Amino acid sequence: MTADRYRPQFHFTPLRNWMNDPNGLVYVDGEYHLFYQYNPYDKVWGHMHWGHAVSPDLVHWHHLPLALHEEPETGITMFSGSAVVDWQNTSEFGNADHPPIVAIYTGDHRPAPLEDVHIAYSTDLGRSFTKYAGNPVVDVDNPKFGDPKVFWHEQTEKWIMVNILGHEQGCVVLYGSTDFRNWTYLSRFEAPDVAPAIWECPDLFQLAVNGDPSDVRWVLKINNTDPAGQQTWYFIGDFDGTTFASESTAEEAAGRDYGDIYAEVTYNSIPAADGRRILIGWIRQQPVEDRAWTGAQSIPRVLTLRGDDTGLVLCQAPVEEMEALHQEHHHWEMVELSETRPEPTRKLAGDTMEIKTEFEAGAARDIGLHLQMNEGGWARIGYSTANRRLFVDQANGKRVEAPYSLKHRRLKMHVFIDHNLIEIFAGDGDTVITTSLAPDPLCETVEPYAEGGTAQLVALDAWQLASALESTQ
Ligand code: FRU
Repeated sequence: MTADRYRPQFHFTPLRNWMNDPNGLVYVDGEYHLFYQYNPYDKVWGHMHWGHAVSPDLVHWHHLPLALHEEPETGITMFSGSAVVDWQNTSEFGNADHPPIVAIYTGDHRPAPLEDVHIAYSTDLGRSFTKYAGNPVVDVDNPKFGDPKVFWHEQTEKWIMVNILGHEQGCVVLYGSTDFRNWTYLSRFEAPDVAPAIWECPDLFQLAVNGDPSDVRWVLKINNTDPAGQQTWYFIGDFDGTTFASESTAEEAAGRDYGDIYAEVTYNSIPAADGRRILIGWIRQQPVEDRAWTGAQSIPRVLTLRGDDTGLVLCQAPVEEMEALHQEHHHWEMVELSETRPEPTRKLAGDTMEIKTEFEAGAARDIGLHLQMNEGGWARIGYSTANRRLFVDQANGKRVEAPYSLKHRRLKMHVFIDHNLIEIFAGDGDTVITTSLAPDPLCETVEPYAEGGTAQLVALDAWQLASALESTQ
């Protein structure tokens, strides 16, 4: 089927129609749940419902029926939010043997410009949800309020809800509850030196500096709709159960995520023995003719906090479960790269690949990977030494750039190519580009290249990746 020829093989996509933010990421009973903003009627945004899929391993996803439906009778649609397992049944929506999953979401009222916070619960492991009859549970009479991220705060023994508020200067407001029905206002976080813009999709979680459990920080993540700035921000600081205090300057908080990723959020209820902070983000796309769906979710990523004398840096790495897809492996090292491309040219064939590379930039102006596409086009995943930019560039297409400095003229990149989706983790994952090539080319071959001088491919490891799609897809 033409429509599916371009379907990414290891990124989650809806079978058809529009998807945006990941919602309600929660792990329970051996399943990672992925709910998501979904329009069941069209390939463009609208009629927000919560779609639903589950995975045993964050790699293979199984599509399930819609979890939360819009309410045509009240005009309320289901905007973004989170989900938790209420282990102690504090909500009394379940019982001690069957702790409920509670979803906390934004009710967007149409046509009134109003958003408030609603809850729904499931006592059958997320297979069906009942909306709470007393909704909304928080209403501040504001047209932009919500995207609630809720988590259990051990020290103060309460649920914490982090929301965005307001259209003007972005702002986060925190609430606390012991039963999900009643919420008490706790505090407000603002960053006055960040240019005014709507904020969306907050998250608040702990990370240990360099993995040291005795040196733990709280991280407040937000998305910023200001088109002139970064879209994902990470404020690093402390949270005492009431107030979040940031230690980051605006410059430090402006994250190093580039391209088309947005609305990232992390999992709740990952078992302590695992301990990872796992994030998924939405890869924004435009509808394309002949393609049945719009939008994809990123590869799940593990967040870490690296500290050195220059400060703290949030790093991202693909979950190691992705290695389950490894197929044929290629390993090259010490390949001289020059403009004339001496034979035998090193080429990898395929369009679903994982590649780990290290280049020594030498005298080259540009280094990286050259992708030959079907239909005669090309794309490049590279680094420009002249202006210190990591980039993804496409013939007659857009160029995504990320400022990036090499250490000792060495470039390390961990790259995933999944049809038209590209994810690049540079260095230690401190700088990430996530993008899709437009509209839907397929990659035929990949080869390392250098331009404007010679360089060296120090090492390259590449794996063809198996499809993770369900057989029905
Ligand atoms: C972010 C967002 C959220 C909102 C949802 C609506 O992409 O705008 O703020 O809840 O999408 O689909």
